[in-house]
Amino acid sequence: MISTRSIYQEIRNDRPAFQLLMSIAAKGETQGGWENERIAALTGDPVLAGKVLRHGADETKHGLMFGKLLRKAGLDEVPVPPEADYCMILEARGIGLPHARLDRSQPLDSEEILQYLVHSKITEERASDEVNRMLRVFGEDPELAPTLRVIAEDEINHLSYAHEELLKLSGQGNGDRIARMLKAYALAEIAVYRDVGLAFVRHMARLLGWSRPKQWALELGVSAVYRLERAFTWRRLAALRPPLRSNAMGS
Ligand SMILES: [Fe+2]
Ligand SMILES: [Fe+2]
Repeated sequence: MISTRSIYQEIRNDRPAFQLLMSIAAKGETQGGWENERIAALTGDPVLAGKVLRHGADETKHGLMFGKLLRKAGLDEVPVPPEADYCMILEARGIGLPHARLDRSQPLDSEEILQYLVHSKITEERASDEVNRMLRVFGEDPELAPTLRVIAEDEINHLSYAHEELLKLSGQGNGDRIARMLKAYALAEIAVYRDVGLAFVRHMARLLGWSRPKQWALELGVSAVYRLERAFTWRRLAALRPPLRSNAMGS
C-alpha cells in the first residue's frame, strides 16, 4: 500500500532518489540562509537585523547539515530541477523579496520588511510541517534523525519569531493589511507547494521506476492535498498565534 512512510522509505533506500531529496532540502535551506543574511544587511533596525541574521545563520546551518548527510552517504549535491525549486518559484510568483532586490544596497522600507516577515511566517509553517513529517518517518533512522531533530527544534524558533514580529506590527495598526497579505501569500504558497509536489513525484517516478498507476495515484494525492489546503489549511498557514517561544531569535 502507498503511504507517506513507504514512499519516503523507498526514497531513502535508493541512492539517486535520496540524493535528489537531500539536494532539494539543502538548496532550500541554503537559499533561505542567503536571503536572511542579505535582509539583515538591509534592515535599519539593529534589533530586528540581529534576529534576521540569527535566522539566516540557522538556515545556512541546516543547508550544511543536509549536505553533510549527502557526503556521509558518499553522494554529491545535484542541481535542483527548476520545476521542483520551491523558493525560486515562490519568488517568481511575487512572494517575498526577489533576488534582484536583495542584491541592491538600498535599505528595506517598512513595506518590504512586512513582505519579508509574511513570507517567513508562511514558509516557516511549511518548513516546520515538512521536517516534522520526515521526523515521523525517520525518527528511528540513526543517520537522519539527529539532523532532523535539530532542524525541527530550530523551525519552532523561526515560527515563534515570525509570529511575534507580525503580532507586534499588527498591534501597531497594521492588522488588516497583514491579515490580507497572509491570506494572499498562503493561497499562493499552497499552489506552489502543489506544483513542486507534482514535479517531485515525476522526478521520483523516473528515478525509482514507478509504474504509471503508482505515479498517477501519487499525483492524485498531491492534488487532493491541494484541494484540502485550498478549502481549509490555508487558514492555519495564515493565522497569527501567540508565539510558542518568546524572543526566540533574540540574543
Ligand atoms: Fe530551515
Ligand atoms: Fe526556518
